[in-house]
Amino acid sequence: MRRAISLLAASGLLSSVLAAPAPNRVKPRQESAVQFFDNTNNPTATPFGPAGASGSLRGGPELRGPNPTNVVNFNDPAVVPSSAYSVLPLQTADADTGFYLDLSQVENPQPIRGNGGKSPTDPGPRNREVEKQNPDLFIPPGTDAGDVSNAKWPLGLSHNRHGLNGAGWARQQNVNQMPIAKNMAGVDMHLEPYAYRELHWHQANEWSYILNGSVRLNAVNEAGETTTDDLQAGDVWFFPAGVPHSIQAHESGVEFLLVFDEGSFSEDNTFLLSELFARNPKSVLAKDLRVDISALDHIPQDQLYIFNGTAPPTNVSDPLNNITGPAGVIPNDKSYTYHFSEQKPYEVQGGSVKIIDTQTFPAAFDFAVGLFTIKPGAMRELHWHTTSDEWDFIISGQGRLTVFQAPQSSRTFDFQAGDVGYVPVVTAHYLENTGTEDLVYLEVLQAPIYNDISVAQWLGLTPKQVVKEHLGFSEDTLNRLPKIKPFILPGDTDLSQTNFTSEAE
Ligand SMILES: *[C@@H]1O[C@H](CO)[C@@H](O)[C@H](O)[C@H]1NC(C)=O
Ligand SMILES: *[C@@H]1O[C@H](CO)[C@@H](O)[C@H](O)[C@H]1NC(C)=O
Ligand SMILES: *[C@@H]1O[C@H](CO)[C@@H](O)[C@H](O)[C@H]1NC(C)=O
Ligand SMILES: *[C@@H]1O[C@H](CO)[C@@H](O)[C@H](O)[C@H]1NC(C)=O
Ligand SMILES: *[C@@H]1O[C@H](CO)[C@@H](O)[C@H](O)[C@H]1NC(C)=O
Repeated sequence: MRRAISLLAASGLLSSVLAAPAPNRVKPRQESAVQFFDNTNNPTATPFGPAGASGSLRGGPELRGPNPTNVVNFNDPAVVPSSAYSVLPLQTADADTGFYLDLSQVENPQPIRGNGGKSPTDPGPRNREVEKQNPDLFIPPGTDAGDVSNAKWPLGLSHNRHGLNGAGWARQQNVNQMPIAKNMAGVDMHLEPYAYRELHWHQANEWSYILNGSVRLNAVNEAGETTTDDLQAGDVWFFPAGVPHSIQAHESGVEFLLVFDEGSFSEDNTFLLSELFARNPKSVLAKDLRVDISALDHIPQDQLYIFNGTAPPTNVSDPLNNITGPAGVIPNDKSYTYHFSEQKPYEVQGGSVKIIDTQTFPAAFDFAVGLFTIKPGAMRELHWHTTSDEWDFIISGQGRLTVFQAPQSSRTFDFQAGDVGYVPVVTAHYLENTGTEDLVYLEVLQAPIYNDISVAQWLGLTPKQVVKEHLGFSEDTLNRLPKIKPFILPGDTDLSQTNFTSEAE
């Protein structure tokens, strides 16, 4: 219907169809308008179809509006009978308890929360697998309210751009996939053994975490200082905007995550060496490199982007790999690489965290990242960040996160490995492990220092009288509020638990 209207509007004929006075923006009626609706005179209305086609493309005018010959069947069922589905015990609990509902083993899950476990049902059409992966959207906690922009993007829904001859692939998330993600974007890239991500540079700053395998990096900065390093899974690199670099997989390939400090970043818009050479006059390139123009006979005709290469010298210090000029190497305090995999985590009862920010990795001047491991049933505490949006990537396990936005909206999203999450600055959130294995994820902030406001600590450091007069807490509850920052709170895999007094300290 909408399509038909816009088609008419586009042809300037909308005014002739609407009985009501035409809105101002509609073009004046044209003489041919009447003919347009006369099928016999409009050759495009009834195109010739294939031989043997039967029936007619359209119905008749008798179907339009109320008409005694049009009989509606009131018995067509649009409610699922209770015999056709089962309800989890937690679905019958009061909706505001908002228990996580594990639908993975439920045959025909229904969007029931509270209400005696009776209704509503969903007769379809439906995509059950998507609903099972997103129970908190399908069956929201009673506390979810209002409208919150989509804060989840599974990279499995992104177009996967392949490199040349099977050398690798890359898929991305930016504002086109997730309009809420205004300030950061991400790319998941894989390189087969010895494959390259072509020499390139870009407008945004790039922070990277290696998910699997190992990689060789080379870069040259403005001073003519160079760097070369090998990194493995769990390590981090950073390349500032404009600094050209190469990335090559070692013998077992590599997969890494790239995060950019620009929501509209696109992996398809980077500055490639192949394009630089293809887009400048060859005589200029020859003059620039002080060679005969024939030296350019074999430059690539098209983008290389991701392409296969040969094994680099295994020793990173090999003079074939480690090229230095008179300016020497990039000094340690400006290093673009950080062997984060070897950093020991900070352990608390519910899991652990490793932080990397400008305190130890100053080159990455606007990236502050926490790598969290949350044990089953445990949760990253309710908190917010004061100066930055948060870009999340789930490395393993599963969890859920509620985005609370002022003044009165909240929405709960469920995440699995390979999903991206996004939480705008000062928006409160937690991340609860809803699975049976560790939830491992990255919280990426666009800030020099990793920091947050803990809700529990805030209340613990506010005079008791003030808290009591706001929330009606008992003396015992007030005494349990922490003065420290908990980071992660323990739980267990029985997600029906609601009494945590024995664990609080
Ligand atoms: C890396 O990939 C291999 C092959 O799929 C897999 O067995 C391994 O678990 C992956 N490692 C990590 C850290 O994900
Ligand atoms: C890429 O090149 C390396 C070394 O020449 C070779 O071992 C590997 O099989 C090649 N990979 C592909 C996908 O062609
Ligand atoms: C790597 O190369 C450097 C410089 O050539 C050499 O000093 C070093 O011993 C080599 N390391 C290994 C493990 O071969
Ligand atoms: C590369 O060579 C420079 C200059 O000889 C040296 O200072 C630097 O340590 C070398 N880098 C590696 C990774 O071996
Ligand atoms: C909660 O658990 C604590 C410790 O096990 C227990 O003393 C308390 O009675 C429980 N509270 C309720 C309301 O069940």
